[in-house]
Amino acid sequence: MPGIVILGAQWGDEGKGKVVDHLAASADVVVRYQGGNNAGHTLVVGGQKTVLHLVPSGILHPKTRCLVGPGVVLDPAVLAREVKALEARGLLDLRNPGERLVVSQHAALILDVHRELDQAREAVAGGRIGTTGRGIGPAYEDVAGRRSVPARALKDPEDLRARIAAILPEKNALLAHYGRPTMTVEQLMAPLLEAAPAIVPLLGKVGPLVEAALDRDETVLFEGAQGTLLDVLHGTVPYVTSSHTTTGAVCTGTGIGPGRLGRIVGLAKAYVTRVGGGPLPTAIGGELEDRIRAIGQEFGATTGRPRRCGWLDLAALRYAVRLNGITELAVTKLDVLTGIGPLRVCVGYRRADGSETEEMPIFPEELETSAPIYRTVAGWDEPIHLARRFEDLPRSVHEYLELIADVAGAPVTIVGVGPDREATLVRARG
Ligand code: GDP
Ligand code: IMO
Ligand code: MG
Repeated sequence: MPGIVILGAQWGDEGKGKVVDHLAASADVVVRYQGGNNAGHTLVVGGQKTVLHLVPSGILHPKTRCLVGPGVVLDPAVLAREVKALEARGLLDLRNPGERLVVSQHAALILDVHRELDQAREAVAGGRIGTTGRGIGPAYEDVAGRRSVPARALKDPEDLRARIAAILPEKNALLAHYGRPTMTVEQLMAPLLEAAPAIVPLLGKVGPLVEAALDRDETVLFEGAQGTLLDVLHGTVPYVTSSHTTTGAVCTGTGIGPGRLGRIVGLAKAYVTRVGGGPLPTAIGGELEDRIRAIGQEFGATTGRPRRCGWLDLAALRYAVRLNGITELAVTKLDVLTGIGPLRVCVGYRRADGSETEEMPIFPEELETSAPIYRTVAGWDEPIHLARRFEDLPRSVHEYLELIADVAGAPVTIVGVGPDREATLVRARG
């Protein structure tokens, strides 16, 4: 069976962790393929909340193997902390770690100097992009610059030291440029040496493991991070992250061919949110936005920042469907909209010259001079958080889902009606 991709179709935080955790009950393997610990994926099982930044969201299922591909940028201290916390909960046995969690030996390391540079640049720009400050951008710059330090260097402190020594002078020049203290090789080595014993036993070759699993006809889920509109090339540049968040990244970030992929599931909230800088054309504003933020608990899982909230943007979703080749949609957080109606939904944009488009204009300079075209729908007042089958949902929710499918151009096969694993409804496939 070909692999199943689960990726964000908006600006991140669509509920990827929750949906992957739900589907992982019947999956053999879950793979993270891009991003780093800028991601925060929330899983709620039996009322207990787990937030994962690097470890794939299948880890709560004892039989599911979790793989971190070479396209991910890896902060060793964060990974070590996450792994130890899972071990303390009995979810990982570090005496035999490769059974449950394998991390690509090619994945690029995030060094302390990457974090310093990320934060220095944000400070100079007045927080324009609003990055998570985790060093993601500078680490990916080094990947593209062919000078990143691969995770396998953690196996050999001398190799690690030499690689860091080779790239540090240029980084120190940049730090000095930003008026920040320069750093020493030993300063950068210390956290790596401390994390290495927890990480080295996890290192392996992820691409071949995925291919072997698919050859055995196992179910493999690919778990995206961030969302389509944060793609470094296809998103609302420059207000984006530094990796590709769209379908192509599944292949490059794992090391497999496109023929290995089957279903492409795009995740969307029933409204939109954005954390960090950049345009959000359908922003709700005022008390209603505050109310939705409070009901939906829209605060960043990584940074705790309040997320801006907007009406569902189906023109953006239509773009995401086309760009990713999305074959089906998962719509989460429908429960949050109970009692909010009438609801507005963006179905297109009107440009400054009066012309209309069904897809969101993606460049901020074009987006900022375009206005959303709204349709108003009644909404619903019934509580739906206890629904467990599509048939349990009221007629008006079905109509909302039909509108989404119609305008975005893909069927809705999964919906979320609450944060808990069980509050995920999967349409029977027929
Ligand atoms: P991710 O980054 O895409 O994994 O999403 P996050 O975990 O950052 O943010 C999604 C938030 O919404 C988390 O707090 C989830 O627990 C919560 N959540 C996910 N699905 C639903 C849903 O259907 N309803 C409600 N009310 N909350 C949800
Ligand atoms: P998950 O996987 C939402 C945003 C940041 C910022 C921009 C660049 O949980 O959906 P970066 O630190 O990546 O250089 O920041 O991208 N961002 C996210 N927003 N969810 C995420 O991940 C995000 N990861 C990065 O807020 O605007
Ligand atoms: Mg998140």
